[in-house]
Amino acid sequence: MPKRPPVVSNVPALRRAVAKLRSRGSTVALVPTMGALHDGHIALVRLAKRRAKRVVVSIFVNPTQFAPNEDFASYPRNLSKDLAALAEAGVDLVWAPDAKVMYPEGFSTRVAPEGPAKAGLEDAFRPHFFGGVATVVAKLLSQCAPDIAIFGEKDYQQFKVITRMAADLDLPVKIVGAPIVRERSGLAMSSRNAYLTDAQRDVAATLHRVLKDCARRIANKEHLVRVLDEGLNEIESVGFTVDYLEARQADSLAKVESSKDGPIRLLVAARLGSTRLIDNVAV
Ligand code: PAJ
Repeated sequence: MPKRPPVVSNVPALRRAVAKLRSRGSTVALVPTMGALHDGHIALVRLAKRRAKRVVVSIFVNPTQFAPNEDFASYPRNLSKDLAALAEAGVDLVWAPDAKVMYPEGFSTRVAPEGPAKAGLEDAFRPHFFGGVATVVAKLLSQCAPDIAIFGEKDYQQFKVITRMAADLDLPVKIVGAPIVRERSGLAMSSRNAYLTDAQRDVAATLHRVLKDCARRIANKEHLVRVLDEGLNEIESVGFTVDYLEARQADSLAKVESSKDGPIRLLVAARLGSTRLIDNVAV
């Protein structure tokens, strides 16, 4: 069995460990996660290993990006299983602070992202979300000071928010996006898929199938609004409640009128029972 990576849980220990990893000029990549790791996360680690000599993974279920009615308390946590997967993937160091280390008594500063964070997608349904994400990611980048940090396109708006924040704050880090990893059914891998029953898992695959179908039709110059209307109906017909299904300009996330305003990204968020899933595809 591969050796488990060292785990550090306070900032001075992290800084010492990263300095050691950096000795002899090694580059360092950070992969921020909330744990409950799956193959989507491990693909980020693999990309990190191709892009940097040393890889640090952070595991922190960040309370500030959950609203009081959301799943912070029940969010899946399994550090021991995560460490075994990270050992297998050849990770050099794990940064696993607890909430008191991240947000000590008296903590009073927040990053308030705008631009892509106000695109009217996730932010319209989770208004607290990107403030919490931007604040914790700014802290993770400051604590670890990596050369690059990897984020999945699964959370496409999040990736744009973080890229913008790093540029706006002149953070000395390169933000790198990684493609979405899917189950064989097409369902995008997610820690929250653990909430789905077997029957719901089958239904959940509809999300990607419809996205792909809409993307193909839009690329074939079919009328954008009609395609999305039909896509929404199809997703709802299998039992989802759709929060949004939208076509956006892939880079700015601005609204688009037709396929001429491309490149286009289709983004969806929908609820199946109490589980909320998001996905996106390029047109
Ligand atoms: P988490 O949901 O654990 O995701 C960690 C990283 O893995 C994110 O960059 C996410 O986009 C990526 N990821 C998740 N599922 C993926 C998949 N199927 N394919 C490719 N990448 C995938 O996103 C977060 O945590 C948090 O918001 C965080 C950025 C860590 C801040 O707390």
